[in-house]
Amino acid sequence: MAATPETVRRLTAKGCSLSVERGAGQASGYDDDAYRDAGAALVEAKGAGSDHWSHTDVVLAVQAAALVRGRPEFDSLPAGAVLLGLLEPHGNDDLKQQLQSRQLTGLALELLPRISRAQAMDVLSSQANIAGYKAVLLAAAALDRYVPMLMTAAGTIQPARALVLGAGVAGLQALATARRLGAVVYVSDVRAAAKEQVESLGGRFIEPPELEQKPGETGGYAQQASEAFLAEQRRQLTEQLALADMVICTAQVPGRPAPRLIDDAMLQHMRPGGVVVDLAVAQGGNCEGTEAGTTVWRHGVQLIGGDGLPCTVANHASALYARNLAALLEHLITPATADDAAPVLRLDLEDPIVAGCLFSHHVSPAPVAVGGAA
Ligand code: NAI
Repeated sequence: MAATPETVRRLTAKGCSLSVERGAGQASGYDDDAYRDAGAALVEAKGAGSDHWSHTDVVLAVQAAALVRGRPEFDSLPAGAVLLGLLEPHGNDDLKQQLQSRQLTGLALELLPRISRAQAMDVLSSQANIAGYKAVLLAAAALDRYVPMLMTAAGTIQPARALVLGAGVAGLQALATARRLGAVVYVSDVRAAAKEQVESLGGRFIEPPELEQKPGETGGYAQQASEAFLAEQRRQLTEQLALADMVICTAQVPGRPAPRLIDDAMLQHMRPGGVVVDLAVAQGGNCEGTEAGTTVWRHGVQLIGGDGLPCTVANHASALYARNLAALLEHLITPATADDAAPVLRLDLEDPIVAGCLFSHHVSPAPVAVGGAA
């Protein structure tokens, strides 16, 4: 959910007037009364009474791309309105054209620059954190072994061994969660900075293969690895897989297919009863054979396609997402003054946060008054 009663209160205090569609927060544990008490106007999602779109200046959304494609009411937004949300910007020229032809500005949160001042707005981090945490819980629940070391009257149980692929936000949270459960955790990444982060959380870092074509970095992100490098990485990880009870796959390269780090032949080396949770499944998966949102078995190993895991922690996922969005909106607006009855939103294209997120832009003849969130 793109707004919670907490963020409605926060934005209302800045002079914004917010509308929330009836029932929109229900699946995340926020009911209509709480929004009303926080100061939002409740509006109908569809049919009679859903004419709020035509006088909305800013739309706060989660799956904003789906909103543009799937909601005919969206067409009634006035020219110059601004859409904030997840716009799946990579290679999505159709959507960009659709927004531009409708004279709408779209800010894609996926493109937010990873700079200190934007940290409070970083939805990819807040949601990846949840995905990393939940992936380990799913793996532990599916595993046919204990995770911690246990000393029992029947003898000692050794701790489970976890292998985490990718040490970004999701991977580091997976490491921390698996450690809290008592696992011994090995982590692979190609970025030099990852080693220190992994070790500071009690993980054991797997050094990337020593090859000349090691992938570079841009803005803290890994670049796509060559096929020769990935082949060498798979060879290296085969030995790790043979020792692992659970594997959490989080390795990604923005805007590119996820690196293929486990192939079917490698899975045959894994212990039957082991579990792989692939968080990169929507980008093609780090592990061959994983399917989004479902579990399949290969060679006695469960492959869990961990797509959309933040939705399974909906209350906190929404609380954090809504705070990220509120922080971005607060950054964009000038609060109401004696001259301006409502706060106004001016997009400063020189601002790295705006320039980074800008997906489609309509130059509005007048600044946008902030009047609505659906
Ligand atoms: P991501 O989700 O794009 O990728 C996850 C991880 O996969 C990355 O650590 C990447 O290096 C790794 N990876 C890519 N190819 C791989 C391969 N072949 N084998 C193993 N690992 C591979 O990354 P995420 O989580 O979005 O973080 C990317 C960077 O942004 C990190 O440096 C992180 O510290 C930084 N960051 C900075 C923030 C800020 O300053 N505001 C906030 C959040 C993240």
